[in-house]
Parts: sequence; structure tokens; C-alpha cells
Amino acid sequence: MTKQEKSLTMTVLMTPDMANFSGNVHGGSLLKLLDQVAYACAAKYCKNYVVTAALDQVFFKQQVNVGELVTFYAHVNHVGRSSMEIGVKVVAEHLRTNEKRHTTSCYFTMVAMDENGKSVEVPRLLLETDIERKHYAAAEMRKKLRQESLEKSRALSIALSGDAF
Ligand SMILES: CC(C)(COP(=O)(O)OP(=O)(O)OC[C@H]1O[C@@H](n2cnc3c(N)ncnc32)[C@H](O)[C@@H]1OP(=O)(O)O)[C@@H](O)C(=O)NCCC(=O)NCCS
Repeated sequence: MTKQEKSLTMTVLMTPDMANFSGNVHGGSLLKLLDQVAYACAAKYCKNYVVTAALDQVFFKQQVNVGELVTFYAHVNHVGRSSMEIGVKVVAEHLRTNEKRHTTSCYFTMVAMDENGKSVEVPRLLLETDIERKHYAAAEMRKKLRQESLEKSRALSIALSGDAF
């Protein structure tokens, strides 16, 4: 059996075109890169086209500076029938001092699609290490919380406007 491709690392230099009005890296520039790395990790894992279904609350703990080298560590934490949770850890490195900072972590739900836009089954995730089993268990909890939160917001929308989004 071929080894599953569950992890992907992408390193990008933060250039001045990514800056916001304060001269630091724009949150939107980071979100775009996060989405790209989650896409690449999920598509490489399932060997299929994938779309972004959801992104859990992203908290930018620390700012990222122009001139830093940012590495995105992506991993397939969990797999459902057609969905995959991709965890992404972001580490910014100062090029002259080599100082590294973990600036954020977030979780994407990516869904595999066929050419008709219908969700398709993805390979079952083989859990080979204790860390992978831990990530899987944590992702399963997040999936449950996500579903509960979705149901609550649907109920709230109906209560407020009679229409669920
Ligand atoms: C994501 C999408 C495929 C889900 O469609 P759907 O009709 O609910 O599809 P399904 O019922 O077949 O569900 C597919 C999977 O998506 C998951 N899913 C659906 N809604 C979700 C949500 N809000 N959050 C997380 N996962 C979700 C389901 O749990 C299911 O997972 P599973 O197969 O592992 O059990 C659809 O909403 C879509 O195409 N969205 C647009 C995606 C896009 O264009 N993204 C780019 C950013 S705009």
C-alpha cells in the first residue's frame, strides 16, 4: 500500500505588497496563504479537487512582519466521508536573528468534490502514531462543537428573521 500524504509544509517570504496600513502583514494576505496550504494539503491527501467548507475562528496571536519568513505546517487531522479537517500551524522566522514565533494555528474543513460539484468519498485516514491519534480525537471534538454551533446559529437566525442561512 502507498504511504498516505498527510502533511505539507509551505514557506513564504513576507513581501511589502502584503503589508497593511501599519506596515505589518495584512490578515487577509495570511488568510489567502492559509487557504492555499489547506487546499494543497487536502488535495494531495485525497487526490481530488477540494473546496473550503469552513474555517474555525482564527485568532492572530501575534503580528507578522514584512521581511519575515513564514512557514505553514499543514496536516490532515481527521477525515469524515467527504470532509477533511486540515490543521495549520504558522511559524514566523526573523531572517537575521533566526528567532521563531508561533503566530497562529487554525483548522479548515475541506470537502472533496467531483466534476458535478457533488461531494465524494475520501480515503480513510490511517492513524500511525500517538500524536496522530491525539490530533484525530481533538478534531472529532471540534467537529462535534462545530455542528452544535451551526445548529444554534440556525435556530437563532430562524428566531430572529424566520429564515435559516
Ligand atoms: C461545502 C459544501 C460542498 C457542502 O455541501 P453539502 O450539500 O452540505 O454537502 P454534503 O451534505 O454532501 O456534505 C459534505 C461534507 O461537508 C460537511 N459540511 C457541510 N457543511 C459544513 C459546514 N458548515 N462546516 C463544516 N463541514 C460542513 C459535511 O459534514 C460533509 O462531511 P462528511 O462527508 O465528511 O460527513 C457546499 O456547501 C459548497 O460547495 N460550498 C461552497 C464551497 C466554496 O465555494 N468554497 C470556497 C470559498 S467561497
